[in-house]
Amino acid sequence: MTATKGLEGIVATTSSISSIIDGVLTYRGIDIDDLAENATFEEVAYLLWYGKLPTASELEQLKSKLDQYAAIPSEVVEGIKLYPKDTNSMAALRTAVSSLALYDPAAQDMSKEANVDKAIRLQAQLPTVIAAFARIREGKEPVAPKAGLSVAANFLYMLSGDEPDEVAVKALDQALVLHADHELNASTFAARVTVATLSDIYSGVVSAIGALKGPLHGGANEAVMVMLEEIGSPDNVESVINEKLANKEKIMGFGHRVYKNGDPRAKHLQKMSQELGKLKGNMDLYNMSVHIEDIVTGQKGLKPNVDFYSASVYTTLGIQRDLFTPIFAISRLSGWTAHILEQYDNNRLIRPRAEYTGPSNAKFIPIEQR
Ligand SMILES: CC(C)(COP(=O)(O)OP(=O)(O)OC[C@H]1O[C@@H](n2cnc3c(N)ncnc32)[C@H](O)[C@@H]1OP(=O)(O)O)[C@@H](O)C(=O)NCCC(=O)NCCS
Repeated sequence: MTATKGLEGIVATTSSISSIIDGVLTYRGIDIDDLAENATFEEVAYLLWYGKLPTASELEQLKSKLDQYAAIPSEVVEGIKLYPKDTNSMAALRTAVSSLALYDPAAQDMSKEANVDKAIRLQAQLPTVIAAFARIREGKEPVAPKAGLSVAANFLYMLSGDEPDEVAVKALDQALVLHADHELNASTFAARVTVATLSDIYSGVVSAIGALKGPLHGGANEAVMVMLEEIGSPDNVESVINEKLANKEKIMGFGHRVYKNGDPRAKHLQKMSQELGKLKGNMDLYNMSVHIEDIVTGQKGLKPNVDFYSASVYTTLGIQRDLFTPIFAISRLSGWTAHILEQYDNNRLIRPRAEYTGPSNAKFIPIEQR
């Protein structure tokens, strides 16, 4: 038995949800470029869960369920009020989602119908949880979700209490489409491993949130913004990036386990970053990002991934940087839950082996002789 570090190149399951073939990402066979230009996040979530695009009436039904489920139990809000004000936002999300299960009478119901319903419920509630956390830590009361708004619009509305402008909603909606699913990424794999024990959907999502939190996965978008803030101004890009490369530091938002010739999602976020910068009359973050890309791609051949231009997009939308990864979770929840449902439909316990590298024939030594 020989281990493959990081399971690189290992095919661990079959799945009909998303594919990455020759650098092209599809959801249910539809190219991400097509979806990014034409689909809303709600259509994409439906596509991931049900395997087909919704008809107009199916989409309306989904939207009305999302409206119906978007409020969160008052006990969960009270719990969030007890979190330390400076707690990590992904740790807060992980805890809050775990607590949502406590107040869902169907949490342990393993029927297909109940699990699909819980996927929709979680999709509706995640933005509410994150917005409530973001406001409570600033000493503000949470804003209740508003029926009739899209997931993207409702999240922005609950963050600020004001109806967001159309450009912001469109940009966030497109970002949600682009992050919704990504084959067997680390957090999705974590979710599938958890539910393959026939544990419940909440446990699967909590595992996934924990995996997404790390800077090698979802935490990279926030780490990109930390780097942009450290650089500070367009004049400093060259010196800071060259120093990082000379010190063999990883440049966040670059490289990918699967894409070696570029992440197909990055170009959409780059375009969005440029358009938002123009609209807001400040191109600094965009220009700095392009300059970083020139240097890193030029010197290392590494291309930006989905996280790189997300950072400037979200910042230009006025979103605090520690909410970037929770926003990724709002989107990826649709993929996680689609994979959880797929795992339940054709389940077998996921239990790989380890190549043992420890000592052999060791003997127990009584404590007084150690
Ligand atoms: C995404 C990532 C985890 C993929 O990891 P991986 O497939 O295990 O790739 P490796 O870490 O083995 O990288 C291969 C080589 O490229 C280098 N490399 C990879 N990403 C790099 C980066 N962002 N900056 C600088 N060098 C990088 C590695 O140092 C390694 O070089 P070496 O062969 O000289 O040791 C990795 O590229 C990374 O850490 N990127 C930054 C974090 C990030 O943006 N994550 C979001 C992913 S969507």
